[in-house]
Amino acid sequence: MHKPDWLEAALSAPIDAGFFATAEGGVDAAILADPQGYLESLRQQEGDFIPAPEGVLGGKPVPFLQSPVPGRPTFVATGYETLKSVLVDDRHFLQDYEFSLAPIMGETLISGLNPPVHAKYRALVSKAFGAKSISALTDESLEPLVTALLERIAAQGGGELVADLACRIPVVILGQLIGLPPTGYDRFAELAARIMAFAYHWDDAMAAAAELRELVLGLIEARRADPQGDLLSHLLAAEIDGERLSDEDVVTFARALIPAGIETTTRGMGTVFAALLSQPGLYQRLLADASLVPVAVEEILRWNGPAQMIPKKTSIDVEIAGRVVPANASIWCALGHANRDPQFWDRPTEIALDRPRGRSLTFSNGAHTCIGNVLARKELEGTVQLALRILPKLRLDPQAQAPQIQGVLFRSPDRCAVLV
Ligand code: HEM
Repeated sequence: MHKPDWLEAALSAPIDAGFFATAEGGVDAAILADPQGYLESLRQQEGDFIPAPEGVLGGKPVPFLQSPVPGRPTFVATGYETLKSVLVDDRHFLQDYEFSLAPIMGETLISGLNPPVHAKYRALVSKAFGAKSISALTDESLEPLVTALLERIAAQGGGELVADLACRIPVVILGQLIGLPPTGYDRFAELAARIMAFAYHWDDAMAAAAELRELVLGLIEARRADPQGDLLSHLLAAEIDGERLSDEDVVTFARALIPAGIETTTRGMGTVFAALLSQPGLYQRLLADASLVPVAVEEILRWNGPAQMIPKKTSIDVEIAGRVVPANASIWCALGHANRDPQFWDRPTEIALDRPRGRSLTFSNGAHTCIGNVLARKELEGTVQLALRILPKLRLDPQAQAPQIQGVLFRSPDRCAVLV
C-alpha cells in the first residue's frame, strides 16, 4: 500500500539517536549515578532548600547549576510538598528563563513569561493542546507511524529502541501539529536537541536557535500565502488584546515548542521502554492487562522523568522550609527528587502500578504545567499499546549492554537494544 509522503519521510529521515545522548561534563560521578538519592542525602542535612553556591552542591561540582549572574544565591528546591508549593506560587517564584533560554529563544518565550502576560500567550494555544485536538492528531498520525516503525523492527528481528523508535515519533507528531515540512524532520530533531543542550554548549545552542529562526520564518512566509489547518497558520491569525502577533512572536512560540515537545518525549519514550523491559515481569503484566498501560507510563515517568530540574527565581525574600531565601535567588526545582521523596511516596524507588494517579510532578504544576502533557502521554501510551500488539515477545538483547538511564538535568537511556 502506498504510504503518504510524511510517513515515507519519517521512516527514511536520517535521525541520529546521538542527538539526544546525555553528556553532562564536569558533574561529579556520585551525582550522575543517582541524582535523586544524592539530593536526598543533602536534604537530610540542609532541609528542603539546599544551597548550591557557584554550582557546587554538597561540595561536588554541578556546573550547569551555576547562576548566569555571578554571585547570585542559588538553591536546589527538593521535597514533594515544598516543591509543589513553589510551583503553584507564581507570586514569589517567577520563571527564570530570561537568564537561561530567552537570549536563545526570544523574549516572549512562553516558559519565561510571568503573570499576567503568560496566561494570554498560553490561551492562544491551549485549545490546540486540549484532549479533542490531540486525539484528532494522534488518530491520524500516531498509529500509522508507530505501526510502520514497529513492523520494521519486527522484520529485522530486533533493533535499538532509542534510534529506531523514540527519536522518530515525537519529531514527526510535533511536525504534523505545527506544520513542519517532512523533508526537514532530521534537521528539526537535531536543532531541538542542540537547543536543549544549552546548559553545556551555549554557543552551539545559539547557532541552532538562529538556524531554527530562519527555518520558521520561511515557513511563516509560506503559510501566510497559503494558510493550512496547522498550529503555525493558527498563530498567524491569532490576536492578543486585538493585535496580531508579530512574526518574531510567532517564531518564538513555534521555536519553543520544537525542543520542548521533541527532546522530552523522545527521552521519556526511551525510559518507558527501558523500564518496561528491565523490570522483571512488567512487560508481561501489561500484555496480560493492557488497561494498565497509562498507569505504567505515569509511574515510570515519576520514577525517572525526562526533565529532572527546572529553573525559577524568587521575586522577594521568601521564608520557606525553615529558611529565608533572598529576593532574586536562582531556584532549581528538583522535580526528580520530589517524585521520589521518601516522606511522600511509599517505596519511592520502586515502579509500582498500584499508586493513585495524577500526583507526580513530572510535568510540573501550577500555571506553567506542561502544555504538551496530553500529547506526550498519548504518544507514550499509544506506542506502548501498539508494541504490546505487534511485538509481544519484545525483550532486551542479552548480548548488548543493558540500558543505562542517566542524567541530572535531563534523564534517559542513550540506548535500548532489543530482540523481538
Ligand atoms: C514526557 C514529555 C514531557 C515532559 C516530561 C515535559 C515536561 C515539562 C516541564 C517540567 C515543563 C516546565 C513547567 C514549568 O516551567 O514549571 C514543561 C513546560 C512546557 N512544555 Fe513540556 N514536557 C513534555 C512534553 C511536551 C510536549 C510534547 C510539548 C509540546 C508539543 C511540550 C510543550 C511545553 C511547553 C510549551 C511548556 C511551557 C508551558 C508554559 O510555560 O506555560 N512539552 N514541560
